[in-house]
Amino acid sequence: MKILVIGSGGREHALAWKLRQSPRCAEVFCAPGNAGTAGVGRNVAVSIADFEALVGLVESQDIGLTVVGPDDALAGGIVDHFQALGHRIFGPTKAAARFESSKIFAKEFMQRHGIPTAAFGRFSDAEEARAFLEGQRYPLVVKADGLALGKGVIIAADRAEAEAAIAQIMEERQFGEAGARVVIEEFLAGQECSIHALVDGRDYVLCPSAQDHKAAFDGDLGPNTGGMGACSPAPVLTPELEERVRSEVMDPFMAGLRAEGILFQGLLYPGLMITPEGLKVLEFNCRFGDPETQVLLPRLKSDLVDLIEATIDGTLAQHPPEWDERAAVCVVMASGGYPGIYEKEKPITGLAEAAESALLFLAGTATRDGATVTAGGRVLGVTAMGADIRAARDAAYAAVRRVSFAGAHYRRDIAAKALAPD
Ligand code: AMP
Ligand code: GLY
Repeated sequence: MKILVIGSGGREHALAWKLRQSPRCAEVFCAPGNAGTAGVGRNVAVSIADFEALVGLVESQDIGLTVVGPDDALAGGIVDHFQALGHRIFGPTKAAARFESSKIFAKEFMQRHGIPTAAFGRFSDAEEARAFLEGQRYPLVVKADGLALGKGVIIAADRAEAEAAIAQIMEERQFGEAGARVVIEEFLAGQECSIHALVDGRDYVLCPSAQDHKAAFDGDLGPNTGGMGACSPAPVLTPELEERVRSEVMDPFMAGLRAEGILFQGLLYPGLMITPEGLKVLEFNCRFGDPETQVLLPRLKSDLVDLIEATIDGTLAQHPPEWDERAAVCVVMASGGYPGIYEKEKPITGLAEAAESALLFLAGTATRDGATVTAGGRVLGVTAMGADIRAARDAAYAAVRRVSFAGAHYRRDIAAKALAPD
């Protein structure tokens, strides 16, 4: 079977790499892909927003399965579009993807079904949102309702900052229509981690826990990025807490789907905060995380094509995945200046040497005259496995040091929290 992966990040390189290992996979296509996916299969220069052209590709190449990476394609209804034309595709429909594309939808669902989350208010009127600030405790979190490239969350230290956030999101529309409505919620202190679950509409299976590092600089300082590195497992999610993820998050989530007649098939990835009062859901994502996928898929021993098909067919209960006991750590190397303004077209050296001892998942990269150059903010993820997190971390950094490009920056403390939990 031929398989199409939609997207162009490190996540999509990891997906393409893992799918290609399946004996059932004849060829991988990637739209639009990057320099890394070009080494696994065939890149096709089609925009992820051009559903017609993507269907055209599937039909002309006789592609039997499409796997979607990015949230905006799901929120835009790519799955509905493919399904209406009889094509097999992995991911939730537009209606089911609202768990990610509307924070208000997700929060109200959690409230209806008793899933622990921060106390919140929801507003479509800036005046009312401002009035709500009276008497609140700070910090307070102001979130655009819709998708905002991971930037629509503002942690306001005091009332003035909260007012500025409301103005930015709702009045100046910094994130466009995503800011027509906002959620204002209680600030939660604790350690963040996440868990990925495959959901087939009836059952779910949990993947191992993972921890992202969203801040740009060491010590969780600086602006938020798409993710500067990850490790799996996340020791903060103890077996006892993992059991609570099942009983307090996933079981009520599945019961809520049934009660409301929502068919969710795909990947559900709740972002979690482990607080002194227990675990709380920060958000739901409806697709594989990036860079989390770059530590989870190397740990997956089972065939990813089988798992994805079982998710689409509602037969996950018969296909429990098997996981490698070893730990995995991924360090993201980014362009200088990211997540702000950065330069592109910087030649990358040392990739072959680093690949001798680590897995390289390329992201913002392109090929120029046979050489690999930078073409985005997050340039590549360097993943290593080890008997424990320390060994994986050391191996990942040893490989990172072999890669260079002008202006490269990466965090030196990926997995440090996992080694010394708070
Ligand atoms: P979200 O997109 O909702 O996950 O928010 C992005 C990031 O903002 C999260 O990964 C957290 O680091 C932070 N965040 C979101 N909500 C809260 C909250 N209620 N309390 C503290 N931090 C939060
Ligand atoms: N790692 C953050 C995300 O994928 O949303």
